[in-house]
Amino acid sequence: MEFTDSSSVPRPSDHMSSPTISRQDREVLTESAKAGMRNAYAPRSGFPVGAAVLTFHGNVYQGCNVESVISGLGTCAERCAIDHAVAHGEYCFRAMLVTSRLENPIRPCGACLQYINEFAQIGKDDIVIFMVGATGKVARSSIWEMLPGGFGPKDLGLDLSRYVKNNSEGLSED
Ligand code: THU
Repeated sequence: MEFTDSSSVPRPSDHMSSPTISRQDREVLTESAKAGMRNAYAPRSGFPVGAAVLTFHGNVYQGCNVESVISGLGTCAERCAIDHAVAHGEYCFRAMLVTSRLENPIRPCGACLQYINEFAQIGKDDIVIFMVGATGKVARSSIWEMLPGGFGPKDLGLDLSRYVKNNSEGLSED
């Protein structure tokens, strides 16, 4: 049996730097995530979370956590934001931002990292992840930093080209 050291598994982030996101895009993401947080449905935890994604087309979609009285149902804000974009026909993302009422930034959970990774493989580019605390503390990372070498559609050799539309439209960098 031959073992592979996980550090030798190629990581996309080893040869690509994560996208640059303009200050203006980050501000729009922050406002959008905060608006999402205000709409959170969190009767069980009492912990509202807001998120937003920036698409390759330059659009921003907000999300919030949606809980259920049925244990195990419900979704996190990050996945809600992605689903919101998908419902509008957008599958490729440059950045995600998540915020809560805690002073320290919160990190997406493992399930959300897996979900974000799925879409990073569709866009064939890293997705910047901003984590913003209630008083403005910001942490920045990316999906390929937080979930290096994650399993996804590319491992199955799936043709994802129908989900990729005009990748380069609407990009702005500073
Ligand atoms: N939650 C999110 O929506 N995103 C995170 O990054 C962490 C946790 C939600 C899930 C649940 O509704 C509540 O916060 C408490 O865990």
